[in-house]
Amino acid sequence: MRAYDIILKKRNNQKLSKEEIDFLIFRYNNGDIPDYQMSAFLMSVFLNGMDDDETFLLTDAMVKSGDKLDLAFLDMPVADKHSTGGVGDGTSLIIVPIVASLGICVPMMAGRGLGHTGGTLDKLESIPGFRTNIDKKEFLNILELTGTAIIGQTLEIAPVDKKMYALRDSTATVESISLISASIMSKKIAEGAKTLVLDVKSGNVAFMKKETEAKELAQKMIKIGKKFGLNTSAVVTDMNTPLGNCAGNSLEIKQVIEILKGNLKNDLFELSVYLSALIILNSKKASTIEEAESVAQKQINNGKALEKLKEIIRLQGGEVSVIDTPDSILPKAKYSREIKAVNSGYISYIDTRAVGTAEMLTGAGRERKGDKIDYSAGIVFHKKLNDYVEKGEVIAELAYNSSVHIDEAEMVLSDAYIVSNIEDKNIKMAGKVYDKRIIALL
Ligand code: URA
Repeated sequence: MRAYDIILKKRNNQKLSKEEIDFLIFRYNNGDIPDYQMSAFLMSVFLNGMDDDETFLLTDAMVKSGDKLDLAFLDMPVADKHSTGGVGDGTSLIIVPIVASLGICVPMMAGRGLGHTGGTLDKLESIPGFRTNIDKKEFLNILELTGTAIIGQTLEIAPVDKKMYALRDSTATVESISLISASIMSKKIAEGAKTLVLDVKSGNVAFMKKETEAKELAQKMIKIGKKFGLNTSAVVTDMNTPLGNCAGNSLEIKQVIEILKGNLKNDLFELSVYLSALIILNSKKASTIEEAESVAQKQINNGKALEKLKEIIRLQGGEVSVIDTPDSILPKAKYSREIKAVNSGYISYIDTRAVGTAEMLTGAGRERKGDKIDYSAGIVFHKKLNDYVEKGEVIAELAYNSSVHIDEAEMVLSDAYIVSNIEDKNIKMAGKVYDKRIIALL
């Protein structure tokens, strides 16, 4: 068997066999197949796609490239959630404490922010002392002690995905339904979860811009999950406006604490409660989604979710007093700059990707892997999609310490908003009526 023949077959839109997919993935993982051949293969898949059988086989080969965690010794339901990424998406930090406080284990391996997207690990590391670089032994110990841990990709979980993703990132082959499905699902299957809830984003900042494509991606991942015996549900959610009231690491941690204290009920809270409810339902801790939602809400009201977050912070080395006095513990930006409405009207469009780019330019995100970030920088949103603004009213506020890219950040953020003229009904009508983030449950 030769890599060349496999590439040729996929280039000619023919179906690949298990032997061919295994050969390519194992040899690439070992370093026997060079990046240039894998790049050609990825582009063939990007252009011609893979059917369900091939996508399942690709996922399987990727799982087998590394370790598979067996968490049966914990004797708990094991669940996980994955979001395909957005701006201000801190749902994991709310969902994990809620469901773990109910005795559901969540062995979460999260990522870092890059470009316009934020990362759960960066947010957590804005808490002084918080460690995410935890080895397998300590990870299992923490899971045994408290039922959850949120760590970086320190274990050998689907290691071939790391190599393939880096290649996809530099060869314009990320936005492929088959490749995204195999990449996400291989890691979730290897992590040993039995229940998985996927939040598939649709909108101008998402991989999938159209709802139909987001649904297709969700269906593909559900099918893969089923074949591996992983109970998978997916929700397609709107990402045409940032989630929550802010984007930036310490800003988002403070917001999470306020939500878990029951002091803040915004769209981030609503989506987090809904996704938590799906995990609770699928882990058989409730019998209807309504009951599961009230169970999730109860864990906030009785303080147990907040207590669980405190325990996670303590076990991972973070400063626990952040829960009681976030303002005195979390880093705070020295300066701020306001973005004001140039006319009165409704916010009819937000280029959410540009908002993520502006966030990165404040110093809160990284342009390249390994760049240092400013934990205190970011954006506070005063208005979002479909909100009414008066001329001169503040739409958003940039928080920063370094002024190196701040003029650019201000320009990018101002240009990201379209405020339709109040008299111009046509423009207003063209704006999506925005009252619900959840588009579909699959
Ligand atoms: N997230 C992943 O882990 N992989 C992808 O391919 C896309 C998003």
